[in-house]
Order: sequence, then C-alpha cells, then structure tokens
Amino acid sequence: MRIGILTSGGDAPGLNAVIRGAVLTGSQTGTADFVGFRDGWRGLVEEDLLPLGRHEVKGISKQGGTIIGTSRTNPFEGIGGVDRVNEVMKRNGIDAIMAIGGEGTLAAAKRLTDAGVPIVGVPKTVDNDLGATDYSFGFDTAVGIATDAMDRLRTTGDSHGRCMVAEVMGRHVGWIALHSGMAAGAHVILIPERKTSFAQITEWVTSAKDRGRAPLVVVAEGFALDNMSDAHSERGLDTFGRPRLGGIGEMIAPMIEDATGIETRATTLGHIQRGGTPSAFDRVLATRLGMAALQCALDENWGHMVALQRTNIVSVPFAEALGKLNTVPDDRYDEARVLFG
Ligand code: F6P
Repeated sequence: MRIGILTSGGDAPGLNAVIRGAVLTGSQTGTADFVGFRDGWRGLVEEDLLPLGRHEVKGISKQGGTIIGTSRTNPFEGIGGVDRVNEVMKRNGIDAIMAIGGEGTLAAAKRLTDAGVPIVGVPKTVDNDLGATDYSFGFDTAVGIATDAMDRLRTTGDSHGRCMVAEVMGRHVGWIALHSGMAAGAHVILIPERKTSFAQITEWVTSAKDRGRAPLVVVAEGFALDNMSDAHSERGLDTFGRPRLGGIGEMIAPMIEDATGIETRATTLGHIQRGGTPSAFDRVLATRLGMAALQCALDENWGHMVALQRTNIVSVPFAEALGKLNTVPDDRYDEARVLFG
C-alpha cells in the first residue's frame, strides 16, 4: 500500500515520532511505503510531495516540529475539493492518506472520507481537547514547558514581591492551565470551563499576598470573566473560521494591579509551549499512534482515527472523535480550587 502522510494545523511536539512510527513499521514489515505532502492539505491539493522512506525518518522522534511542514490550509478552498484530491492521489499512485491533525483537520478528513477518499487520522493537539482520546501527544510536553516557565516566574515574582500572571494556550479547554498550574503550585488557575468573577480573583491574589507569597495566576487563553460573553480575541478568525485567542493575561494584569495595589506583570507563553524536544511520554504515545494508524490503513478502516484509551491504542470513527470536546470536568477543577489563594 502507498500512503501519503500530512501534518496539518498547529504543530505539536511528537509529530515527527508519529511519522517515524508509521514509516518504519511499513518498511520493517514490507506492508507500506510512504510519501509526504508538504505543509498539510496544501501539499495535497497543490501536488507538492516529498519522499518519505527509512532514511528520511532516521532519528527524528526527538525533533520538535514536523519534517514535512504544516499549515492551516483548508482542502476544500481554492483549487481543492474531492475531485482534485482524487486526481493527485491517482497520478501519484497513492492508495490512502494518513492525516495527522486536530479538530479542523479531522473535520476536513471526515468530509473527504464521506465523499469516498480513503483516509485514516491521528489526533494531534497540545490543547488535549479531542473527546475520543484520553491524551493527545504534545500535551505532556506543553505542560512541562509551561511548568518550567512558571517555576521561573515564581523566583522573579518572589524577588520583587509581584503578582505574576502567566497566560497559556489551550483554545477552549483548560487542560494546559490546570496541569501546569497545579504542577507549579499556582495561587489562581483560570480556565474557559469556569467563568469567574474579578472579585474572586482579587480575593485569591490578596490572600496569597497577605501570607507573604508572590501570587502566581495561571490563565488559559480561552478564559472569560463572568461578565464577558466570549473569550478575549483581538486577532480575527483562522482559516477554519475559529477565533484566534490570546491576550486575556495582558488584559487582567493591570486590572489586578489597580484593584489590589500589588505590582503585577503578565507573561504570555505562546508558541514556546509548542516548540522543541517532545517529552518521553509524547514520543512513546506518538510512535504507538503512528504504528496503529498504519494498521488502521492496512485494515482499510477508512474514516477512523487512532486514540489512546486508558493505556490501549484503539480506533474510533471521525464522527465520534469530533462530536465531543474534551473539557476539564468540574471535579478536576474543584479539586485544584481547594488550594487557591
Ligand atoms: O490548537 C493549538 C494552538 O496552539 C492553540 O492552543 C492556540 O489557540 C492556537 O493553536 C494558536 O494557533 P496559531 O499557531 O495559528 O497561532
């Protein structure tokens, strides 16, 4: 079987390990060979391919980013569409597509599969927001990076007696904030799943300061105060029509300073959370997902993506994976909230 791989959407540490897992398994077992599409769906619709053999994937599982590039191209826009995808596949002798991506990518993959294009998927998101998988690769690395950054913010915050606000990614879910905030011992963690009043935030900050601590506030980019209708967004929409989030940390830091009199600084961790070496956990998960995705294709299990459930790799239909956002449950937030302030 000849499989074309693409990585689409925001990158995540572990993408290269998925590619290596699939390509090496195909080569070792003699069941499949691969080509890559450059920059996600763009490479497919524009017929921009690159060779992807054993040699190309040598030693890449420890590398961040993706060796085949990524983009937020929508395969149905411009010259794209089902006919174009079929034409490119046929001309290059490609039997199936392995699409590695998040919600937007898998939604496009589902639309193509529904129209008869043979596709298997691999979930990718540092946000950990896909319902059908317990964890997605990239999340563990992002949490590690954010935790390390917060440990650093705490020492400078302690030195100056300042309140430090750290904004993390996560889109509409608070997993990165919750895990990195707990790991760093934050005094306040603000997530999209829980709108919170500004008065409550200042109460926690003041209480930490009164105990002689330099308050650390971790805020997810998708968080909204209880008097805001939507998450803070000032950079328009992405190619899939979703708002680009970010800026809530910079917004609430001066408000905290004004209300409490505590000097406050905001830091937006941004894309640092997605860069660099994947953690060992992410490398193992990504490799297993790549290997399982190949098996999914060999079984002609089109329209399915591989997922981690407990410690097992399973396959689930795209529809199931797309149907539910993996939000932070109330009890997980309440557990962390006990230690705020
Ligand atoms: O989905 C991953 C993610 O990093 C989100 O946490 C964030 O909102 C978004 O992508 C940023 O996208 P971009 O890389 O296009 O700025």
